[in-house]
Amino acid sequence: MDENPVITTDRLTLRRFTLDDADFLFDLFSRPEVARWSGSGTPMERREEAVERIRRQPERAGDHPACGVFAVEANGQLVGMALLVPIPASAGRTSEGEIEIGWHFHPDAWGNGYATEAGRALVERGFAAGFPALYAVTDSDNVRSQAVCRRLGMTDLGLRDDWYDRSLRAFRLDRQEIAADQ
Ligand SMILES: CC(C)(COP(=O)(O)OP(=O)(O)OC[C@H]1O[C@@H](n2cnc3c(N)ncnc32)[C@H](O)[C@@H]1OP(=O)(O)O)[C@@H](O)C(=O)NCCC(=O)NCCS
Repeated sequence: MDENPVITTDRLTLRRFTLDDADFLFDLFSRPEVARWSGSGTPMERREEAVERIRRQPERAGDHPACGVFAVEANGQLVGMALLVPIPASAGRTSEGEIEIGWHFHPDAWGNGYATEAGRALVERGFAAGFPALYAVTDSDNVRSQAVCRRLGMTDLGLRDDWYDRSLRAFRLDRQEIAADQ
């Protein structure tokens, strides 16, 4: 697969982040309604944190060429990010190589179907790469993200503590389910 992939959908372009995107990423994660559902849950306070996050993205994406942390553009403007990355196993549990899909969009861009459209593109990419299943994990009260999972046809696994050392509501989509639908 291409080292610098550009994925296009009807309305979106997904591409790798560059350091030029730090202002956008800072704006995104300085918003409590976005930061609340990511990592420590604390909004970013300094632009340098966004630069650091972009720098760490290759490590987060791991070695598989299909994986990545993607900047999402609509109409030539950044609107969010979408991930296809290895999901970190909780302590004491051996990782079984599970792959996660995820999304964080700017509040101004919510309510357009962009997260679902980007998620669908990454589902296609992940299954084309041969991953047998894709996972999404959400805070138990993150109903907007859970709605995206359902729109993608994912199965609700309920609360699981297998990843991120936390109890999270997990969703899974099997490649076979998609193949069976076609
Ligand atoms: C989770 C998140 C990405 C969901 O964004 P979203 O815009 O609600 O999700 P979708 O892209 O699926 O958009 C669906 C909405 O767009 C509407 N919509 C408008 N035009 C549409 C179109 N052309 N096609 C599809 N849906 C469209 C749908 O009706 C739906 O509206 P509703 O929320 O009123 O029901 C967003 O809330 C977010 O970034 N939250 C903060 C970060 C976060 O929680 N990340 C996930 C961590 S697990």
